Amino acid sequence: MATAGKVIKCKAAVAWEPNKPLVIEEIEVAPPQANEVRIKIVATGVCHTDLHHLSECKRDDGFPIVLGHEGAGIVESVGPGVTEFQPGDKVIPLCLSQCRKCRFCKSPKTNQCVEGWAARGYDVLAAPDSRFTCKGKKVLQFVGTSTFSEYTVMNQMAVAKIDPAAPLDKVCLLGCGVCTGFGAAVNTAKVEPGSTCAVFGLGAVGLAAVMGCKFAGAKRIIVVDINPDKFEKAKVFGATDFVNPKDHNKPISQVLHEMTDGGVDFSLECVGNVEVMRSALESCVKGWGVSVIVGWTNSYDFAARPIQLMTGRTWKGSIFGGFKGKDGVPEMVKAYLDKKVKLDEFITHNMTLDQVNDAFELMNHGKCIRTVINVSPQ
Ligand code: APR
Ligand code: ZN
Repeated sequence: MATAGKVIKCKAAVAWEPNKPLVIEEIEVAPPQANEVRIKIVATGVCHTDLHHLSECKRDDGFPIVLGHEGAGIVESVGPGVTEFQPGDKVIPLCLSQCRKCRFCKSPKTNQCVEGWAARGYDVLAAPDSRFTCKGKKVLQFVGTSTFSEYTVMNQMAVAKIDPAAPLDKVCLLGCGVCTGFGAAVNTAKVEPGSTCAVFGLGAVGLAAVMGCKFAGAKRIIVVDINPDKFEKAKVFGATDFVNPKDHNKPISQVLHEMTDGGVDFSLECVGNVEVMRSALESCVKGWGVSVIVGWTNSYDFAARPIQLMTGRTWKGSIFGGFKGKDGVPEMVKAYLDKKVKLDEFITHNMTLDQVNDAFELMNHGKCIRTVINVSPQ
């Protein structure tokens, strides 16, 4: 490759400060160091977590930053010590590393690897060991990834190699939202065949949770959203019953108890609201109901009555659907290629990198499920 070993100048959407539109800039991307790969990003989804950082990170050590973490691309070059990847490989960058060596990687029970940016004690989602500069300033990498850039550099333990047949403008969604929701149902809740499930919130994460419930054989999937426009799409993924809390003047848990003779077997909270988390728990049947927290919140505390758990409910949560990225993401790509999971149906808009602020605007108004940005032509 002509660019290997050299600094690449390319286009990226830079967030210079909180709550300001992203600015398309020319940035410099340094060559990969030991155990790193430089990736040409082909496509990226736009996720709420990108927007959360922009609008909620009040600290000045979180900027400037290149956001975006739901991408897919092609390896451009590799640093010393990289044997697993070669230029030309199709890959998905991972927010959660999988070093395969730590206590957590060795356990089949979790994806909470202790390596990678997340475990190094940063209080914000901005990883400082970035390979980006712009106008003489260091630019941070968001959750170690930064897919709103034509090129990025990642440690190989946070990169998943995928099937060369995979269309990158679709499978990019497996970098975050779809795996998060699908895995929460399949891996974390462990939804059982014939069961009744409730999914709260019908963004991409919630719809993926609906798809996971259906995949696991749930018989009845009740979806709850305050925006009834989302119900049509939920049907496509397997939802059977539709509840708008605004249509009821009693707690939604009571509505679900009445619909299901005492509560659902599994519930998944895909909103990121502590009130909804409690309501999802309380919607579960006593004895064996399992409720999973999926939506992201910055709240430190939340509340529930201990008797809810003492009578046999289980409250759990997961990040990235409990998937170990290097293992799980290629499997999900294969499941898509085998038509066992849907991805195209999540994509409501396609845009270019210059339109990234419009994508945020759509998301703010609940007007999209997922926008895919075609970052570099393939
Ligand atoms: N009850 C039910 N549904 C609600 C409620 C509520 N009180 N409040 C909001 N919703 C619905 C919205 O109408 C929307 O359809 O939840 C849905 C959330 O969808 P998105 O905003 O598109 O979010 P999504 O990208 O799916 O992510 C969900 O997971 O990763 C996190 O940061 C992400 O917290 C977010 C959550
Ligand atoms: Zn590990």
